[in-house]
Amino acid sequence: MSKIMITGATGGLGGASLDFLLKNQSSSELAALARDPGKLADYAAKGVTVRKGDYSDYNSLVKAFDGIEIVFLVSAVAFSDRATQEANALRAAKSAGVRHVIYTSIQQRPGSTLKISQVTDTNNHTEQALLDSGMQFTILRNSLYLDALPMLIGHKDFSSGLRLPLGSGRAALATRIDLAEGAAAVLAQPERHQNKIYTLGGSESFSFADIASVISEKTGSPITCENITLKAFVAEAVAAGVPQQFADFSGEWLNAIAVGEFAEVTGDLERLMGRTPSHYREFFQALV
Ligand SMILES: NC(=O)c1ccc[n+]([C@@H]2O[C@H](COP(=O)([O-])OP(=O)(O)OC[C@H]3O[C@@H](n4cnc5c(N)ncnc54)[C@H](OP(=O)(O)O)[C@@H]3O)[C@@H](O)[C@H]2O)c1
Repeated sequence: MSKIMITGATGGLGGASLDFLLKNQSSSELAALARDPGKLADYAAKGVTVRKGDYSDYNSLVKAFDGIEIVFLVSAVAFSDRATQEANALRAAKSAGVRHVIYTSIQQRPGSTLKISQVTDTNNHTEQALLDSGMQFTILRNSLYLDALPMLIGHKDFSSGLRLPLGSGRAALATRIDLAEGAAAVLAQPERHQNKIYTLGGSESFSFADIASVISEKTGSPITCENITLKAFVAEAVAAGVPQQFADFSGEWLNAIAVGEFAEVTGDLERLMGRTPSHYREFFQALV
């Protein structure tokens, strides 16, 4: 049986993917990577092989990938040297004899040249490096997490309405837990998904006006949805105490929605999960 290693297993996406896999797969076939293996003690107790490794430390990865056939490479975090870290992971996988890498990337509009700082350049570069590596690949181009949207908008409470660079864009976003379930479906039958690229998102697109309408319905008090420039959005966020770097980063994601970067509904996630992903309506109703 294949030995599959899950990276990012202490995090949201990798951890949930491992949990989904453990429902149907023997723990003896599974391994997990952590910078601090102590954080994965619960998985070790269930029989998952836990290895220490850091994307920034090439040698640690070569050692961690020893005897592993399939690596689920969860992309490195923003505001770190992602390009080097992901290059280390691919080189180490190749060197250790891994035959198939399943990599989490980001959804982009077909033909898009839009850049999201700290995100798209690295994802595109690593995708290409994986294609050129000679290893089998599966690329999971995840949408922006639906769960990340409220934080990017900067609202805990929507009563003051939405003031955003709306554009005319729509977005079909999936929750992180659904994206993890999709990844686990690939990991459960890796041979079926060799050399495939999937774009994973929600099964229905929505606009910010749709979100305002769901929240209005749920709370019983109409909330406004006002179009402002990206510059004004960032300035207002900073004035409200959001650090400049995060306000700029949030603005870039919202602008990506505004220009339709996540609008395409491919059905890939629905097919992998065998059910419809969580709907934005349910998500925002639960949130408020
Ligand atoms: N599509 C989206 O909306 C979206 C949103 C956020 C992030 N992402 C991307 O998707 C990835 C997974 O998301 P997530 O929500 O699961 O993030 P997360 O909860 O922050 O988890 C990140 C994982 O990466 C691990 N990690 C960080 N630096 C590492 C290093 N140098 N070497 C090895 N492991 C390292 C962390 O381990 P430690 O416990 O050691 O820190 C953690 O397990 C992120 O890393 C990011 O690239 C996508």
